[in-house]
Amino acid sequence: MTVQINPSILSADFARLADEVAQVRNADWLHVDVMDNHFVPNLTIGLPVVESLIKATETPIDMHLMIEDPDRWAPAYAEAGAGSVTFHVEAATAPIKLARDLRAKGARASMALRPATPIEPYEDLLPELDMLLVMTVEPGFGGQSFLDIMLPKIRRTRQLIAKHGLQMWLQVDGGVSAKTIEMCAEAGADVFVAGSAVFDGRDPGAAVDRLRALATGAAGRCAH
Ligand code: DX5
Ligand code: ZN
Repeated sequence: MTVQINPSILSADFARLADEVAQVRNADWLHVDVMDNHFVPNLTIGLPVVESLIKATETPIDMHLMIEDPDRWAPAYAEAGAGSVTFHVEAATAPIKLARDLRAKGARASMALRPATPIEPYEDLLPELDMLLVMTVEPGFGGQSFLDIMLPKIRRTRQLIAKHGLQMWLQVDGGVSAKTIEMCAEAGADVFVAGSAVFDGRDPGAAVDRLRALATGAAGRCAH
């Protein structure tokens, strides 16, 4: 498993976005949280800002859409050039069709689960997806505490991916920090979103390197 570190710009200074993302050129992806004030009780940015961000950086964009009706809105982010587009299964009407649409538009297709959403009902969908996102906080805000009761779900999800012989990635998002990233890697996550742990400190680039080193060390202890 190759570890990937995706800083979440939710914790960056939105008025200085290009400068902020330039500080994390060592990141694998930039994680961009879109919130619509309906699916989650918070509002962030939409397509116009994402289009500008794609022009301002060479780092690929990892979209996390916390919105109602992703069937309608998500494909436009793939068309705009986002390399990966994650929709929430709780909000999607036709997740298989949506995943196929995203892939057809050239993006990696990814599906997110809120903390109380189990993975098991979606086992048959896994081959349609390039990544699964297991939320480790309730989506909506940065800086929340990691829910360690999600660790068994991360383990079970990694086991299902292995059982089907799939190459898909397993992302965790929420409360991921130097304190929690090793637990996530040991449980089987390989893509790590970190907002406050990267952008709240003095040196975001160094924080990315530190998280990567911790996760890489711990990934060797993962049973799969
Ligand atoms: C929360 C977002 C996260 C957020 C994580 O709903 O999906 O991506 O930025 O922030 P931290 O890493 O501070 O928990
Ligand atoms: Zn996110």
